[in-house]
Amino acid sequence: MASPDPYLRQPWLTVHGIPMVNAFAHNWERIDTFQSRPEDIVVVTFPKSGTTWVSEIVDMILQGGDPDKCKRDIISRRVPMLEFTAPGKMAAGTDLLATMPSPRVVKTHLLAHILPKSFWENRCKMIYVGRNAKDVAVSYYHFDLMNKLQPHPGTWAQYLEKFMAGTVAYGSWYDHVKGYWERRKDHPILYLFYEDLKEDLRREIAKVAHFLGQKLSEAALDTITRHTSFESMRDNPATNYRQAPSDIMDHSVSPFMRKGEHEVLGGLWRTVPPGPC
Ligand code: A3P
Repeated sequence: MASPDPYLRQPWLTVHGIPMVNAFAHNWERIDTFQSRPEDIVVVTFPKSGTTWVSEIVDMILQGGDPDKCKRDIISRRVPMLEFTAPGKMAAGTDLLATMPSPRVVKTHLLAHILPKSFWENRCKMIYVGRNAKDVAVSYYHFDLMNKLQPHPGTWAQYLEKFMAGTVAYGSWYDHVKGYWERRKDHPILYLFYEDLKEDLRREIAKVAHFLGQKLSEAALDTITRHTSFESMRDNPATNYRQAPSDIMDHSVSPFMRKGEHEVLGGLWRTVPPGPC
């Protein structure tokens, strides 16, 4: 009989007092000592807040709005996740980043106070995306059902308690959004909101391009807006995570590109189906 996988469905561990995905938490020194480059662009969010969306937008802007260039590889290799590691399954974020030319786009979910110091010291540009906590909780619940690097979330009722107590990977949503909100006062951080992207995607893309000092033609802006719509990203193999190993992400449980919708407050509890327990 095969031995149980050391990373799948394991309880989270703690790094610097923050709950962390079990597979990522080992050898944390590689994160603490990570050396940024001044040109690095950091896309940082609490999980499920639109990280993939904004990562694709940033890559499209850097590629001058050329969708073909953004199909050169899957998003997790174009915009590596700093803390990601799953030995024997997928390349670690730090290994991918070491091989990339500048400007690198670095994805992370680390809270401001545990982000490697080097990013702050080098004054790297950061793009933070905040999303309504209720929608994050619903999205994270479905993600944890399909993403086996996380512990099983249990029922929705059980999960919601954990989410509100900050005992899910990356800890408290509140601490996360607040940490970067405070730091934006003395660091180049563009603070975006998922809901604003939903409201006017073209306007928000222009904001990102301006922050990155990139001039875009009206036609390029239109192309990026079309290319990063929910439907385009859902159907794009380079952004929909369908190519992730199926023993890690089980899309038959829930697709990564799930709904991309705001869940109405009153209906929040009713719209989430009861969990499997
Ligand atoms: P839902 O689970 O609510 O559908 P992250 O990339 O941080 O993991 O966030 C994933 C969430 O962003 C998912 O939310 C996903 O559907 C949504 N998302 C990704 N791309 C999107 C897009 N182009 N438009 C709207 N939502 C998008």
